[in-house]
Amino acid sequence: MEILKDQDVARALELLKSGEVIGFPTETVYGLAAPIFSKATVEKIFKIKRRPLDNPLIAHISDMQQLEAIVSSIPEGFYPLSEAFFPGPLTVILPAHPSVPKEVTAGLSTIGVRMPSHPLALELIAALGEPIVAPSANHSGRPSATSAQHVINDFEGELVAVLDGGVCPIGVESTVLSLVDPDHPILYRPGGVTRLEIEEVLGKKVALSTHLRTKDDIPLSPGLKYRHYAPMAQVIIFHTLDEMREHALRENKKSLILSSDESSIPDHYILSRHTLFHLLRLADLEHYEEVLVFCDLRIASDEALMNRLQKAASEQIIHESHCT
Ligand code: TXA
Ligand code: MG
Repeated sequence: MEILKDQDVARALELLKSGEVIGFPTETVYGLAAPIFSKATVEKIFKIKRRPLDNPLIAHISDMQQLEAIVSSIPEGFYPLSEAFFPGPLTVILPAHPSVPKEVTAGLSTIGVRMPSHPLALELIAALGEPIVAPSANHSGRPSATSAQHVINDFEGELVAVLDGGVCPIGVESTVLSLVDPDHPILYRPGGVTRLEIEEVLGKKVALSTHLRTKDDIPLSPGLKYRHYAPMAQVIIFHTLDEMREHALRENKKSLILSSDESSIPDHYILSRHTLFHLLRLADLEHYEEVLVFCDLRIASDEALMNRLQKAASEQIIHESHCT
């Protein structure tokens, strides 16, 4: 795989224009990039990522004029949000322009749009002159990538190049918010921007969609129904140190212990948004059997971090799942 640096944006552009998917950095996580109107390259993303075809992609823009070609209307509330959070880790679901390929929207009438703040992402999109669509650069269901090395580890032999922009400063994906019904904004995925920050700008409450379904029992956001972020090791969340210690003594497995502070637990790693995916990947690289998470208040109060942890642990045991 070619590893491109900041002086190589022209090479990255050349590859994109010649129909290759490439890895690229954003401030949240790395993405797998294709030009929005290149259907064949967009289809390649789904193959490389092994992503179900009914899960749509986010469009990444570098300036507001690029919206015109991809959305059919701008709902009330969008501009206050874009002023407050663009560029940055917020994706807004808007009515899609009919010319957006169905390969991108997975046949939905909506499209998620965000303006990343990573300088290399902005430079690449501006040089291309059209939005870049990108899912996170990981195989479906596995932890996201927050460094170029993570992308190489996952896609060596499958991807021609990655643009290396260093370690992603935020470390969890963007917040996904639907404004399709502007009176009832819905949060599909907690992320880099908090629900409270959005509510302050909109001046209204934002519903959390995690459990909302259509009448036909289809999840509102297609991605919600798939398993996510899971390492090979079993992830178990604890709310008291005693329970975690008892578990460790009883099971006596090779376990990676995560906690948000320097407390009294020996040999633990510090868990934050910034370290989450690196640590879930470390568990695989070093063949840990279990990831034991001590969910203290700092972790429990972070909606984005808890969402990723609970998904990584899903179909697995969550002790005392009510978080305070
Ligand atoms: O931070 C991010 O958002 C990263 C970086 C690369 O930008 N991208 C990312 O993409 O996380 P992906 O595809 O891994 O996750 C996007 C999520 C999926 O759960 C998808 O179902 C949802 O957003 N989504 C995308 N378009 C949607 C739409 N039109 N309606 C509902 N949900 C949508
Ligand atoms: Mg993803």
